[in-house]
Amino acid sequence: MEMLKRPRRLRGSEVLRKMVRETRMDKASLIYPMFVKEGSGIIEEIPTMPGQFRYSVDTQGEILSKLQDAGVKNVMFFGIPDHKDEVGSGAYDPEGIVQKALRRARKDFPEMYLITDVCMCEYTSHGHCGVLCGHDVDNDRTLELLAKTALSHVEAGADMVAPSDMMDGRVRAIREMLDANGHYTAPIMSYAVKYASGFYGPFRDAAGSAPSFGDRKSYQMDFHNSREGIKEALMDVEEGADIIMVKPAMAYQDMITRVREEVNVPVAAYSVSGEYAMVKAGASLGYIEEERIISEMAVGVYRAGADIYLTYFAPEIARLMDEGRIG
Ligand code: PBG
Repeated sequence: MEMLKRPRRLRGSEVLRKMVRETRMDKASLIYPMFVKEGSGIIEEIPTMPGQFRYSVDTQGEILSKLQDAGVKNVMFFGIPDHKDEVGSGAYDPEGIVQKALRRARKDFPEMYLITDVCMCEYTSHGHCGVLCGHDVDNDRTLELLAKTALSHVEAGADMVAPSDMMDGRVRAIREMLDANGHYTAPIMSYAVKYASGFYGPFRDAAGSAPSFGDRKSYQMDFHNSREGIKEALMDVEEGADIIMVKPAMAYQDMITRVREEVNVPVAAYSVSGEYAMVKAGASLGYIEEERIISEMAVGVYRAGADIYLTYFAPEIARLMDEGRIG
């Protein structure tokens, strides 16, 4: 049989397969999202995210040192406050939970890179991502509060802020506020291409941030749209975003690829709580092999074009890289 091209030639051994790999990964690009909660002595497992925990400021060191040992140096903080109000004042309180966690982490883990999620849904009594005007989020009033929140995070020790609220104009409002206060060097990672998604379900349990009425469809994107995502990404770059994020990751890999082609800043992808929960649930029932699924999800995101990967599986992925199984 005459056949000059045989793709199987390059698959003949592990050494060769590794030589010709197209996707290379590095632990330096992993970000681990974690939950810090008001109180003390808390290490509580999140029921819908087995293996993930809420920590108080006095216990957060436990996970931070595990991450450091695993070679994961980047974390993103989400706060769970002990009180909520109409205007989400806990989000920008200098004594708020994230601010306290930052000051402690800055002191105890000077090597770690500290990123914060900037949003109001964990802090508002109604669970929406900004202040309300009637039954809708008041975009422009919310901008001031988001900018204040970002500033208070940077002042408490955050290296980078990541607005996830999806208000129009927030990147610019935050950039101007940080610059006006001399924080020119703190980058903004924008959740620019963020869809209204069922994949956030477990997170809302974890953070107690489900909206008390309605949904987030008037500010997060409709999952039928992709051109709109490019519009959001380009606008945020114009407004000063340093990194553009696509979220969720698994069902949105086309967007990772498209955004990668359209912008000249690093692209991050966030494998969200529901992606984590599905893997855990499927694996605990014996339907799938956890490590193989984690590996394919991670490599898939980088193969699609992501430069940075946010995932609750960051420590496991770091280990799989150390063991030479992926990357
Ligand atoms: C805050 C925020 C959410 C997530 C990240 N930032 C929840 C939401 O928008 O409802 C989701 C993260 C995850 O599901 O892992 N707005």
